Amino acid sequence: MNAKQAKLLDRFKKGDITVGVIGLGYVGLPLSLAFVDGGVPAIGFDIDDEKVKALANGESYLSTVKASLIKAAVKSKKFRATTDFSKLKDCDAVIVCVPTPLGEFREPDLKYIRITGEQIAKTLRTGQLVVLESTSYPGTTEDDLKNVLERSGLVCGMDFHLAFSPEREDPGNPDFTTSQIPKLVGGMDEYSSELALALYKHGFKRVIRVSHARVAEAAKLLENIYRAVNIALVNELKVVFEAMNIDIWEVIEAAATKPFGYQPFYPGPGLGGHCIPIDPFYLTWRARRYGMSTRFIELAGEINSAMPHHVVTRVQDALNQAGKSIKGAKILVLGVAYKAGVSDTRESPGVEIVDLLLGRGANVRYHDPLVKKLGAMRKYDLSLSNTPLDAKLLRSVDLVLMITNQPGTDLKLVAEHAPLILDTRNAFRDFPKAKVLKA
Ligand SMILES: NC(=O)c1ccc[n+]([C@@H]2O[C@H](COP(=O)([O-])OP(=O)(O)OC[C@H]3O[C@@H](n4cnc5c(N)ncnc54)[C@H](O)[C@@H]3O)[C@@H](O)[C@H]2O)c1
Repeated sequence: MNAKQAKLLDRFKKGDITVGVIGLGYVGLPLSLAFVDGGVPAIGFDIDDEKVKALANGESYLSTVKASLIKAAVKSKKFRATTDFSKLKDCDAVIVCVPTPLGEFREPDLKYIRITGEQIAKTLRTGQLVVLESTSYPGTTEDDLKNVLERSGLVCGMDFHLAFSPEREDPGNPDFTTSQIPKLVGGMDEYSSELALALYKHGFKRVIRVSHARVAEAAKLLENIYRAVNIALVNELKVVFEAMNIDIWEVIEAAATKPFGYQPFYPGPGLGGHCIPIDPFYLTWRARRYGMSTRFIELAGEINSAMPHHVVTRVQDALNQAGKSIKGAKILVLGVAYKAGVSDTRESPGVEIVDLLLGRGANVRYHDPLVKKLGAMRKYDLSLSNTPLDAKLLRSVDLVLMITNQPGTDLKLVAEHAPLILDTRNAFRDFPKAKVLKA
């Protein structure tokens, strides 16, 4: 390390820096606030003018981020949001938190990373640290982002510095705020790792350094593949035990009494959100380049993506037993967000199930205190809005389908008045008198 590098590292360690965060969504917004809380000023960048305006007014567009935190950060003058990317030059570190979806053929879609890289390259300067946080396959930082940044004429490791740090945000989880979740960092070289370590120590209680960016990228995928595979396992067992008239929920509770060697995962109506249904396939795609297949991932994907169809079959069976057909049946879906506590409906199995039920001629309404409307989405074009719960409505439907147990849902009211409940979450376990079937 030369004297200039030692001086820069010292500034990072002291927090005498400004951090830029590109992409102010579920990941980038709480991250910016974590830095502000840790004493480092943050500039947030987004292409969405509406979001930037809302933040300037101290408003939150995410149910998982309190407006009071944004207001306080704006008032302290340590946080501002902008669509003006020329301000990137004022940042010592630039963190990329843009989306990484799958394309039409389940291939990684890195266009947001590429576009962002091009934006950064325009103002990239000597000494800047760039960190990628968007989830992607191992090699993205090294092969994709580095190449785009080097089009600036600056060289990675000599002029600018580059690292990967996976985001482990769990939106809606009150037990782990951003700063409490241990942060992994892996640089393209020793010095980049040092800078990234020093940077994240200002926003996070624990920062762990790994040997290279590609290890950090792979660790993130392992975490999400582990979840996807284990959820698939219990989803498969759910269907098998169902046929044997055994309640999977009771089985899991029993198995979880073993104090070692077992971690409980729970079945559900399918995978949702921006991570677990998508990230594993980034690895699948990349593995093909090495002539490798990822059979566990493919199988887990197959089982999990069959779950919404399984739920619809169970709806059909439940109605059939009651002497009704799915066509024309009045069905009330509880919870359409992909998990409890969030308003996010991306990749939500609830949305797919609503679409499948509508396609079979059912008369579908939904209740979700966090999702006011279900409009046009990437794959679906629904036109539904949140229906308030009341006894009259519950008595008027043929079936209530529990998909996501949102906090604030009046389960007691549902249990008392719904003629028939199909429960994919074991949410009605405390209401033995209600007519509940599980799916
Ligand atoms: N949401 C999660 O729980 C979570 C958890 C871990 C990792 N991740 C990963 O983090 C990344 C971001 O996810 P997210 O959930 O925050 O997405 P998001 O859609 O909530 O937010 C992305 C933001 O980026 C903005 N954006 C898009 N293109 C841009 C561009 N060119 N320049 C500037 N801003 C741009 C969008 O307007 C949006 O505000 C993804 O790679 C995701 O896989 C997400």
